[in-house]
Amino acid sequence: MGPTRSDTKQLTESRYPVLRMTSGPITLMGRWNNVAEALFSLNEGGSFCAQYNPENTIVETYTLLDGVAEIEHNGEYRIMEIGETIDASQYDKVITFYGTTNAEILMKMDADFYEHLFYETQLLQYEMDAVAHVDGYTYHHCDRIRQYAIEVWKRMDQPKCKLKLLRWGSYFHDIGKLSIPLEILNKPGKLTREEWDIMKSHSSIGANIMRAHPVQWLKDAAFIVEQHHERYDGTGYPRGLKGDEISLEASIVSVVDAFDAMTTERVYKEAISIEEAIAELKRGKGTQFHPKVVEHFIKVITEGKKQAI
Ligand SMILES: [Fe+2]
Ligand SMILES: [Fe+2]
Repeated sequence: MGPTRSDTKQLTESRYPVLRMTSGPITLMGRWNNVAEALFSLNEGGSFCAQYNPENTIVETYTLLDGVAEIEHNGEYRIMEIGETIDASQYDKVITFYGTTNAEILMKMDADFYEHLFYETQLLQYEMDAVAHVDGYTYHHCDRIRQYAIEVWKRMDQPKCKLKLLRWGSYFHDIGKLSIPLEILNKPGKLTREEWDIMKSHSSIGANIMRAHPVQWLKDAAFIVEQHHERYDGTGYPRGLKGDEISLEASIVSVVDAFDAMTTERVYKEAISIEEAIAELKRGKGTQFHPKVVEHFIKVITEGKKQAI
């Protein structure tokens, strides 16, 4: 019997360092023989991705200690057994873990690499919390965008090494909204021209925040934040980039961001149904949106892992 959720809670309140990820807390337990062990207390409905890269770590395993979790690799899903260990080095594509219930997963990785990653991510906690507090909408919005974006990316079979940039670029796509006055952000009526200009500045401001960040991979993901309101036909902002001038990462965020905004109720608008939002995405193919991304995203929505998103 592995540690239970209340054991984990006690651990998190005691001497071990903890990362509070949106999918659940990760507790760094320590290192043994240069291998770090960390406990991921994955929430029901939460998910995370593993991508094996031998340049980073030799050892990379995930053992299910408690609860029910499902894994997906190359489009195939299966439930893990308690005690089962997934050795990521044996998988050539990204593996996604989904919490079917709350689940405890023990992770092992080369200590130098993992501890560095852990403390870098801890440095980001402040920004993650800040985004979470700008308003309730943005927090959930960011996490859904991150999950949707990864699902689209996986279906497009992109090189694994860029997944990390997409993950953080999509999570922080609206980080620039931290500097937009709340009365503009949450205004129930139509924005004036001046207010709209201020609102639009959030993508450039966000990119500047990312570029100034001490964590290198946030700097590297700044272009995604900067381009997430560009449009395929060149009429977007801030630079009016067109077609393939816009990175694929930003094109993905643009589609999933628009979908999430349409299907979420806000103070200034009602939510529309998933079917209506899909029709809207189809209408925007080739004008607002990258056509291939729209096609893959519609597949994610209609046949994908909706419960995990
Ligand atoms: Fe935005
Ligand atoms: Fe957004």
